[in-house]
Amino acid sequence: MPQALRPHHVRPLLSAERIRARVAELAAEIDRDYRDSDALVAIGVLKGAVLFYSDLVQRLSVPVIVDFFQTSSYGAGTVAGEIRIKRDIDTSIRGRDVLLVEDIVDTGWTVRTILELFRFRGARSVKLCALLDKHEAREADVPIDYCGFKIGNDFVVGYGLDYGEHHRHLPYVGVVEFEDVAEGDR
Ligand code: PRP
Repeated sequence: MPQALRPHHVRPLLSAERIRARVAELAAEIDRDYRDSDALVAIGVLKGAVLFYSDLVQRLSVPVIVDFFQTSSYGAGTVAGEIRIKRDIDTSIRGRDVLLVEDIVDTGWTVRTILELFRFRGARSVKLCALLDKHEAREADVPIDYCGFKIGNDFVVGYGLDYGEHHRHLPYVGVVEFEDVAEGDR
């Protein structure tokens, strides 16, 4: 059940057109890099990556197996070693090229944990594609091989990202601005 949300509005940050253009560029780059691979598995991290993932894989020309992984943190925030697997992939990745597709890298703990797991399982290569890089919030050092946009330390929603399960369906990315913030706090 969605939580009660504080009154807020969403200020557009990245338009659907900008996202579409950037996704096309990323797909072209990925196509180039994997042109000799016959064993690419693109793994989307649910739920946040679902819109980005679906737009990205549709633009790939190289053969690709699609699969999904889902995590959640145990507590309020993401902490090292506290990532819970809610849904594992169906595909064996031993000897295959894995491309992990994320909506956002925030602290970095989620992708760091998943990437290490996939390496442990014997993937031939493991790379990361993320639409958004909230680099100022980073705690775990993770290189992003294919990055859509670097953003500031804002609370962003839309294009898969949520606030209390709301706003995931928006075709653009926006910043949540709370309406009960006193003028002096801005
Ligand atoms: C969000 C987001 C990333 C992760 C990033 O997922 O989609 O997977 O947090 O955070 P981190 O870099 O600090 O680890 P969330 O667990 O909120 O689930 P959701 O994708 O279903 O919204």
